[in-house]
Amino acid sequence: RSLTMEKRDFSEISDTCKWESPDYEPWFPVSEKSNPLTRDIDKSSPNHIVRLLAACDAQMFQKDTGTSYQRLFSDSVVLTMLEVARTVEQILRDPEDSLVVLSGCGTSGRLAFLMASCFNRALRDRQQNTVYCYIIAGGDRALLTSQEASEDDPKLGMLTLEKLCEGKRRVLFIGISCGLSAPFVAGQLDFCLKHPDIYTPVLVGFNPVTQAREETMPGYSLTFREVVQRMEEQRGQRAFIINPAVGPEAISGSSRMKGGSATKILLETILAAAHTAAFTNTHVTRRVLLDMMRGYERVYSVTYSHSDQIATLLQTAGLSLQCGGRVCYLSWGSLGLVGLIDASECIPTFGADYEDIRGFISGGYQDMDNIEGDLTSLGSQFCIAHEDFVSLVLPTLSDRDTVLLLYTCHDDVGDVEKMVHRVREKTSNLHSLYHGLEGDTAVDSIGLLCSSVLNITWPSSSTVHMQWELSSKLVLNAVSTGSHVLKGKIYRNHMVDLQVTNSKLYHRAIHILQKMSGVSLTQCEEALLKAIYHVEQLPEDITSAGVTTHTLTASRRNRVVPLALVCLLIGCSLSEAESRLESHPVVRDAVEACLTSSQHLTSSAGDQNSTNH
Ligand code: F6P
Repeated sequence: RSLTMEKRDFSEISDTCKWESPDYEPWFPVSEKSNPLTRDIDKSSPNHIVRLLAACDAQMFQKDTGTSYQRLFSDSVVLTMLEVARTVEQILRDPEDSLVVLSGCGTSGRLAFLMASCFNRALRDRQQNTVYCYIIAGGDRALLTSQEASEDDPKLGMLTLEKLCEGKRRVLFIGISCGLSAPFVAGQLDFCLKHPDIYTPVLVGFNPVTQAREETMPGYSLTFREVVQRMEEQRGQRAFIINPAVGPEAISGSSRMKGGSATKILLETILAAAHTAAFTNTHVTRRVLLDMMRGYERVYSVTYSHSDQIATLLQTAGLSLQCGGRVCYLSWGSLGLVGLIDASECIPTFGADYEDIRGFISGGYQDMDNIEGDLTSLGSQFCIAHEDFVSLVLPTLSDRDTVLLLYTCHDDVGDVEKMVHRVREKTSNLHSLYHGLEGDTAVDSIGLLCSSVLNITWPSSSTVHMQWELSSKLVLNAVSTGSHVLKGKIYRNHMVDLQVTNSKLYHRAIHILQKMSGVSLTQCEEALLKAIYHVEQLPEDITSAGVTTHTLTASRRNRVVPLALVCLLIGCSLSEAESRLESHPVVRDAVEACLTSSQHLTSSAGDQNSTNH
């Protein structure tokens, strides 16, 4: 191996642990830090992007390194998981008037839905009553689209939980907030603490409790951190906190990635272990939990052992996005939900149009089994069945578009084959991700019709379908993130063109502006407000308004952060910034051009000064 390769490997190893140092971006919680591994992801090739994502994902499974951070496999984490699993086990043994509620915002709420559906299905298969419920901020439409504003409402969270649990005798409430930050979830946790006779709260997130959000919440007297402190006082008896650190996200703050994967790993481990214990008349043990988590670690390794094929998919999807084409995930079974979730996240994460990356699930809402049922009437964005794909997308499909099939050996291969033939009439840009079982001897007639095939073979187990889901999640996260990187949406490892639709995103935007421009936070906030309200001067009624008013206005505007950034870098008016952005439609190019010209301005000002002196 060449010396440069070895140098790079060495620097990757030291970058892996760098974020743990107390001096590394100390003002940010782990979930908002930028990952040292991915600082050049925006300039990487598809193969290198996959390698960087694999290195970031590996941080989830990193063992305790003796720093102050707890990790997935830390004794304290596993012990709390054990206690929560035993509580679920008790509910399963005596389910009368009891509920296990999973709740969250954005991806966390979508995963709450995925897991509640999966474990209710497992109960139905055993002819048992279902006990799982999900809550997602913004209701079922948030499963498919971005409804970020509800995340900021602690009272709404609390009222939704209270209504759902009316008349229940016992409720295990699992609130998921990767950043320990969502007011919607904080309101619910606080409500549980106030009603300990019925509710036992569990918080799942990936920051230490000392990094829980400190900002005040609208209409609420407590901060997230204060709610967590109250939970700490009850910890281990009436309240549980599961919060290992999994390292910063590959794209800063994008908790849909590792945050989502780790949520799935932790909660599925707890729930699956509780099911096994309750239905085999044993008890959950630490060992069972550890074995399951190690199983997920193998899922990670097996999946990324196919890095070359993942890179091919990412490159193809990137090309489609670059030339205005679309990427469609056509999935069967529970992989359909994974596809829908990944696609829906691209809208808030990358400011993508819903048609850029879109998911379709074979049986549509019948397969979804969501509380509010068929949402098709809400608009084309909510048309998610394969028949919708056939009527809405197929007629205009071309080689510019990428179609990715996701299916397993448990699905109706005949149905997959029919779809393949229909798609092939329109495009040869067809790819497949297939999960099979060892000993599976079926002839791969579908693969023969695809331009690329990613076949993964797994040993048989009772939880293999959850492993397929995680594996597919890793692949799709890589495809959607990588393709947007290739499209130029990311600068270094920051999503600069983020939508400023809630208070967390508002503060993230200000910090990105500060990092890129080097000016004070106050100046950055002013620039952001000018871009949001489209004014050159800030009148008193804007500066005195609350963040909710700002985010409401921002949700109706595009490219506010890039606009503010150009103003800060060049020191120009909004209209000049707008015309500069128009000449650079790719955000990364716009930022780079401005940085170059601002450096140029600074150095010519410096030259001027030295001449004057
Ligand atoms: O509001 C945006 C967002 O960051 C989503 O992308 C994310 O899924 C959601 O908030 C929830 O975040 P958390 O799990 O940290 O509460």
